[in-house]
Amino acid sequence: MSRSGREVLLGVGGGIAAYKACDLLRRLQDHGFLVTVVPTPASLNFVGTATWEALSGRRVLSQVWENVHAVPHIHYAERADYIVIAPATADLIARLAHGRADDLLTNIVLASRAPKLIVPAMHPEMWLDPATVANVSILRERGFLVMEPDVGRLTGADIGPGRFPESARILERLHEIVGRSADLLGRKILVTAGGTREPIDPVRYIGNRSSGKQGYAIAQAAASRGAQVHLIAANCELADIQGVEITHVETTAQLEQSLAQYFLTTDVLVMCAAVADAKPVQMSNEKIKKNTLLRIDLVANPDLLAQIARQRVSGQVIVGFAAETENHLDNARRKISEKALDLLYLNDVSGGAIFGSEMTHGTLLDSDGGALNISEVSKDSLAHVLLDQVVTRLR
Ligand code: C5P
Repeated sequence: MSRSGREVLLGVGGGIAAYKACDLLRRLQDHGFLVTVVPTPASLNFVGTATWEALSGRRVLSQVWENVHAVPHIHYAERADYIVIAPATADLIARLAHGRADDLLTNIVLASRAPKLIVPAMHPEMWLDPATVANVSILRERGFLVMEPDVGRLTGADIGPGRFPESARILERLHEIVGRSADLLGRKILVTAGGTREPIDPVRYIGNRSSGKQGYAIAQAAASRGAQVHLIAANCELADIQGVEITHVETTAQLEQSLAQYFLTTDVLVMCAAVADAKPVQMSNEKIKKNTLLRIDLVANPDLLAQIARQRVSGQVIVGFAAETENHLDNARRKISEKALDLLYLNDVSGGAIFGSEMTHGTLLDSDGGALNISEVSKDSLAHVLLDQVVTRLR
């Protein structure tokens, strides 16, 4: 499990459609791809490095003369699972067809064996020019997937083939290449999200800082990949997800009851919810007076995940989450075996990081000793990376 399988290198050529590639980048991220942008130097006249770095959350280089000690063209070529070049100008297509390596992007293309999707955008005369036609056919012969541009209005008054396609159409092509847009079709997934609360009295409770965002992202991602999803949400203030059945719970006991109801018929359980480790021995029916609230006697809650994993039926995949501030890996490995899990995502939450945030970082571990480091990605992206691993295990 050393690769996520979702690394996209987005090459941006120097055409006005470069601004549309900003939306493409966002949509790629929504679909769980991890994107590194490599613009050509000319394209920086349209969209600058700062924009690409802010949108991708990653360092952006365009020349081979930057960061030389890290040999970026080889590093990027090895990391990319897919290369998408959008927009590809007539000049960039010509350089690629002739094997030129005069900027970082063209060096990477030569050094990479990943599938390459080229999205041309230019004026119709340039697209239809015999030189471009010949260059495109060379690329196609060599296995590049060159999309047909849209027909329509261009930057000036001219109309014809050459428009940059909608992001959705580009994603559709990429998904065809990736071949896993509906890889959870017919599967049932049970996801828990948020954090349980244990009432002390009618106004106070013991709780935790889990927002539920990660669990919701997993539910949404699983639904978009064709799964039938049931989400058990513990105290989440998030909008419902279309097509996902949601049961709302408050306490650990309610979560336990819902898990028992849905677990046996599910193919996958993703236990993302933070379960309160203890609860008051007794809840007071009246609000406890300030001066008598100096001590609360607690009793431990059961470990719901360990408990339910013991009832596992064959073929089920069980995923746990762990939030640790110290001895991360040792504790995580112990939890995988103690709780009999297939996968565990380890969040490093020191300093309160990750709770409520749109982003996450950590390590995805499996029961075979594999580990995948996840650095600063959106919770949507993590959801897809995790589901990729689930799909492999379901097979
Ligand atoms: O042991 P720890 O709390 O770090 O384990 C985290 C994982 O175990 C999470 O997946 C969480 O949902 C689950 N858990 C549980 N019941 C508990 C505590 C944790 O199901 N009482």
